[in-house]
Amino acid sequence: MATAPPIDLDAALIDALRAAPFVVALTGAGISAESGLATFRDAMDGLWARFDPRDLATPTAFARNPKLVWDWYAWRRERISMAQPNRGHFALAELERRAPRFLLVTQNVDGLHQRAGSRQLIELHGNIGRAKCSREGTVVGQWEAVAGAVPTCANCGAPLRPDVVWFGEPLPEVSLAAAEDAMHRCNVLLVVGTSAEVYPAAALPEMARQSGAIVVEINPNATALSAAANYVLRGAAGDVLPALLATLD
Ligand code: OAD
Repeated sequence: MATAPPIDLDAALIDALRAAPFVVALTGAGISAESGLATFRDAMDGLWARFDPRDLATPTAFARNPKLVWDWYAWRRERISMAQPNRGHFALAELERRAPRFLLVTQNVDGLHQRAGSRQLIELHGNIGRAKCSREGTVVGQWEAVAGAVPTCANCGAPLRPDVVWFGEPLPEVSLAAAEDAMHRCNVLLVVGTSAEVYPAAALPEMARQSGAIVVEINPNATALSAAANYVLRGAAGDVLPALLATLD
């Protein structure tokens, strides 16, 4: 098995993390890559390289072909149920226990952070493990599978849809407001495994920076955020986050 190169951590960054009263992490699909789940924008194997989001992740797509959309999310749900949280997820759960105050803001819908033990968490884009009535919006955690058809709302009979945010839809207002508030209050923001291209989540690191937080990018590749980050740690989340955590010992 290949060994990851040692992570070069700046002493000032370590001091800042140790001293920070409030640490926030913003995560994206990259943190689940080492669990075997595809990201969205990686050129070769990203989901949006293989599927067109306009057919699968918009309200219009669902109205046009609910079965196609439901089945695609069912396929992803199945893959997620077979995946396990990785060292990156576990390191963030441990950081929550160690930091005086900690919040995790995720764009991921896979629930792997919770399975790794994270509790202080905001899911900006919903959770694929839940569905909601496409007419009334009532959220459900379970539903009856219907062979060859989309499950329906027990109350009104309208098709159920995944409880995730699609392109063209607003983020849950309360969640976004809480995330923005945390950006203004945190001392260190770890931005992990996101291309920082999808708004409004992509605007959050700049809010933190403007309010004086130290912004740390953890990503093997350059992103839209890299130039504005105070520190850039080039590597996989499963290598870098445990290394960062170890500095707190
Ligand atoms: P992207 O696919 O846009 O970006 C994934 C990022 O993870 C890239 O910058 C990769 O370089 C990085 N990455 C890959 N492997 C990694 C690893 N092992 N460790 C750390 N980073 C790694 O995914 P998101 O930024 O999450 O929204 O995408 C944002 C939103 O766009 C998603 O929530 C989804 C998508 O469309 C909706 O579906 C609404």
